[in-house]
Amino acid sequence: MFDFKYFTPTKVVFGRNTESRVADLVKEFGGTKILIHYGGGSVVRSGLLKRVTDTLDSAGISYVTLGGAVPNPHLGLVYEGIELCRKEKVDFLLAVGGGSAIDSAKAIGYGVANEGDVWDFYDYKRKAAGCLPIGVILTIAATGSEMSDSSVITKEEGLVKRGYSSDYARPKFAIMNPELTMTLPDYQTACGCTDIMMHTMERYFTNGGNMEITDALAEGLLRTVKKNALILHEDPKNYDARAEVMWAGSISHNGLTGCGNDGGDWMTHKLEHELGGLYDVAHGAGLAAIWGSWARYVYKDCLPRFKRFAQNVMEVEKVGSDEEIALAGIEALEDFFRRIGMPTNLRELGVKPTEDELALMAKKCAIGVGGEKGSAKVLNEEAMLAIYRASM
Ligand code: NZQ
Ligand code: ZN
Repeated sequence: MFDFKYFTPTKVVFGRNTESRVADLVKEFGGTKILIHYGGGSVVRSGLLKRVTDTLDSAGISYVTLGGAVPNPHLGLVYEGIELCRKEKVDFLLAVGGGSAIDSAKAIGYGVANEGDVWDFYDYKRKAAGCLPIGVILTIAATGSEMSDSSVITKEEGLVKRGYSSDYARPKFAIMNPELTMTLPDYQTACGCTDIMMHTMERYFTNGGNMEITDALAEGLLRTVKKNALILHEDPKNYDARAEVMWAGSISHNGLTGCGNDGGDWMTHKLEHELGGLYDVAHGAGLAAIWGSWARYVYKDCLPRFKRFAQNVMEVEKVGSDEEIALAGIEALEDFFRRIGMPTNLRELGVKPTEDELALMAKKCAIGVGGEKGSAKVLNEEAMLAIYRASM
C-alpha cells in the first residue's frame, strides 16, 4: 500500500434543475465578472445557455461568453479566451458543457493567472502558480474534469495533444443535473461510459500495492457503469441510469479509486491521446479501440489484477488457468464495448494509419511520457508501436 494525498475541494450540487442555483454558487465563490465558456452549440440548442444567462441577469452578475471549444480542444481558442478575460477583467470562469469546454476553461484560467505562454505548462517547461476560479455546469458524464485536476489541450501546430494537472484548476463547484445529459447522442453516451470505466481501470491495473477499500470502490464503480451503460443503450431517458453514470464519472477521476496505489498505469490514455491529436477521434472511442491490444500486451505482467478484474468486474465464470481467466475477462470487456457501440480496434474506430503514422504516434507518445511509462507493464516506444500495430 502506498501513501497518498486525496484532495477534492469541488462543491457538488447534484440533481434535477440544479442549474438554477448557478448565480448563488458563483457569488459564493467570489465571482463578479464571468466568462461563460462552452462548446460547439449543444448548450445553445438545448436552451441551457439561455437559462443560465437569464439566471445571471436576474442576479445582476455580468458576464461575457465564448463558445467554440471543440472535442480535443484547441490552444488557439485558449489564447482567445485569455485575451478576452484580460480585456473584460473576468475574475471567474463558468464552463457549461463537457470535458472539452471545462479543459479549455482550465487552460484559459492558467493563462490569465500566469505570465508567459500557457502552452509551457502542457509542454512540461514550467509549473503554474495559480488559476482563475472555475465553476462547471456539466452536460456529459465522461471525463470527470468537473472534479479533476487535469486538462487536456491540443496544439494545432504539429497536432500535439497534452495534459497538464494541478490542484489550482480543480473546479470550485460542479452543477450536475442528470437530465441535462439526456440530449446526448448514443455514441457520446457510450464514449462517456467507456472513459469513466477507463479512469478507474487505469488506477486498477497496477503492480506494487493496493488497498482493499479502494478495490471495493473501484470494482463497484465499474460494475455500476457497465450495468447502467447497457440500460442507457436501450433507454437513454432513464433518469436513474443517467444519475448513476454521472456520479460515477466524477468519482472515477477525482482520485478516490486510486488511493493507496502507485499512481496508476495510464498508458491506454497516453496511447489514445496521440490518436485524438492526429485523427480527432472521440476520446472514449479511442480508448475502447486501443484497450484490448494494450491488455493483451501487458496482462501476463499483471496477472493477479487481470484475473481479479475478470471475476469481480466482468463476472466471468470461466474455470481454468489464471491466464485463461484473465483473457476471458479481456474478451468480456470487448464484448461489452461492442454491445454499447464502441470500437475494439482502429479499423472499427474508422482510422487507417500508415506504418509511418503508427511510428510517429509511438514516437510522440514516448516523448510525451518522458521515454517510458506504465505500471501493469512499463512500456517504451517499441512496445507502444507494437500495441498500435496490434490494434489495426
Ligand atoms: O460541443 P458541443 O456542441 O457542446 O457538443 C458536444 C461534443 O460534440 C456534445 N455534447 C456534450 N453535451 C451534450 C452534447 N450533445 C448533446 N447534448 C448534450 N448534453 O458531445 C460531444 C463531446 O463533448 P466533449 O466535451 O468533447 O466530451 P468529453 O466530456 O468526453 O471531453 C473530451 C475531452 O476531454 C479530454 C479528452 O481527451 C477530450 O479532449 N479529457 C479530459 C480529462 C480531464 N480533464 O480530466 C480526462 C480525460 O481522460 C480526457 O483526456
Ligand atoms: Zn479519459
